[in-house]
Amino acid sequence: MIRIAIFASGSGSNARKLFEYFQNHPSIRVGLLISDRRNAGAFGHAAEFQVETCYFHKSVFQQEPEKVLEKLQTSDIDFLLLAGFLLLVPPVIVSAFDGKILNIHPAMLPQFGGKGMYGHYVHEAVQKAGISFTGMTIHEVNQQFDEGRIIFQARCPVLSSDSVSDIAARVLALEHAHYPFVAEQFILNYKKEKHKNK
Ligand code: GRF
Repeated sequence: MIRIAIFASGSGSNARKLFEYFQNHPSIRVGLLISDRRNAGAFGHAAEFQVETCYFHKSVFQQEPEKVLEKLQTSDIDFLLLAGFLLLVPPVIVSAFDGKILNIHPAMLPQFGGKGMYGHYVHEAVQKAGISFTGMTIHEVNQQFDEGRIIFQARCPVLSSDSVSDIAARVLALEHAHYPFVAEQFILNYKKEKHKNK
């Protein structure tokens, strides 16, 4: 079994989609949910799907990241999926899981990304730019916010009558529709690639 950990800071609707999708998967299991927010909605979803959870205060990620790494290692985690995780993944974790971490971003990268571009700020920037579409991006995670290799993007329209929350809702629906399948393919192909190079 390939074991994944999900990192989430917020309401956890993407985390929930991932729990659902991998619940009875023949080769992939969600083994752990990690959050930096004690009251993250993702904890409730994890409980429903009987996924083990672990909370680490922001300062642990920033000053003692080896504690988070140790938890991932003792839980036998192979891949990390970020789903609304707001902190930078500590370098020691990025190195240990090199090429095995995905993030989902609620806009088209590289244009609408970088530090501070999260939540409603992203959708406000899209609206301000006056463009007719937005979308979502799934990318690998490296040491910079939103700069890893893009592996998948999908678009949706922005209407002139849209409020910021209309845009957010349309993008979130797109995320839910694609993240589980794209993550699954990424993980399964990674394993195949590895095997090929042996
Ligand atoms: C999503 O839009 C995700 O792209 C972004 O934060 C939001 C998280 O929503 N990084 P949820 O917590 O999965 O409901």
